Amino acid sequence: MDRIITNDELKEDFDETIRPQHIDEYIGQTEVKENVRVFIEAAKMRNEPLDHVLLYGPPGLGKTTLAHIIANELGSNIRTTTGPAIEKAGDLAAVLSTLEPGDVLFIDEIHRLPKYIEEMLYPAMEDFELDIVIGGEGASRSIKIDLPPFTLVGATTRAGDISSPLRDRFGIVNKLEYYSIEELKEIIKRTARVLDMEIEEDAALELAARSRKTPRIANRLFKRVRDFALVLGDGKVDVKITKDALKRLKVDEYGLDSLDIEYLTTLINKFNGGPVGVETMASAMGEEISSLEDVVEPYLMQEGFIKRTQRGRVATEKAYKHLGGNKEETLF
Ligand SMILES: Nc1ncnc2c1ncn2[C@@H]1O[C@H](COP(=O)(O)OP(=O)(O)OP(=O)(O)O)[C@@H](O)[C@H]1O
Ligand SMILES: [Mg+2]
Repeated sequence: MDRIITNDELKEDFDETIRPQHIDEYIGQTEVKENVRVFIEAAKMRNEPLDHVLLYGPPGLGKTTLAHIIANELGSNIRTTTGPAIEKAGDLAAVLSTLEPGDVLFIDEIHRLPKYIEEMLYPAMEDFELDIVIGGEGASRSIKIDLPPFTLVGATTRAGDISSPLRDRFGIVNKLEYYSIEELKEIIKRTARVLDMEIEEDAALELAARSRKTPRIANRLFKRVRDFALVLGDGKVDVKITKDALKRLKVDEYGLDSLDIEYLTTLINKFNGGPVGVETMASAMGEEISSLEDVVEPYLMQEGFIKRTQRGRVATEKAYKHLGGNKEETLF
């Protein structure tokens, strides 16, 4: 099913156009932003590369964006790759050999680097040296390659999956937090400005409230509502168009979409509100376990619609209320 509120990275140009380029345009994340600003300034004053930076937090909160901003603010080039793309020693050597002094190397999904690649990275991070073994079967020898000083920026949605030796080699470790409605409103207004669209305050607020505390979803909803405003309205994004559009897109006032609602309905009607295991839920709904675990449940849990217990998932009173009933009524 194609979800409007999906949190997958947008591959279109849209994303590039609206991505903030400078730290002053990066809204929210105040603590992280101010720290990064100071560290960048200090590195520049000392004329040294910035310490390695690890960014972690849920999808769509701005890790990739911040990595690019860091490079921009340093006045450096950025090379990007991902954990799963580096399979062999040669892949890592190839990436590292393109680096110039002061460059930023961005490794997304860094928790998915193979273990031995991770170990090759340690001397590269600490001493800007790469040890590679060449030849095989008895004739192998190890050679050392000097690397230019560079800054590694790693990003991950799963900080728990990063080994501690790797984590310890990052001088700067930042967790990105969910955004407040006020901040999301600013983000939506900024996106509107960049795209040269007019949006009413109340409309921006309405969108912000349904964006699951996530800039990517805010932008995605805005993008769709903009289409409705162009085709059905006078081009301006107002509250009425916004509410109409969100209704058509089946995104409710909590930002829940039809898949979330199906999840809650299944849990309550088929399983009496739980506890029920995620495997059972997945097969009752005809969905993948991983898509429930990674996409549906985190937000339902975070907003208090469900709880995870030892015996499985349980619907909360809030879930019953949201679907227009209450626990007792449904039980008898
Ligand atoms: N602080 C911010 N201010 C303004 N816009 C933002 C901010 N953070 C993110 N965005 C917008 O949200 C979109 C998603 O952000 P980004 O791709 O950086 O998220 P991510 O954390 O890298 O996600 P993933 O874990 O899926 O890789 C970006 O295109 C950007 O336009
Ligand atoms: Mg990213």
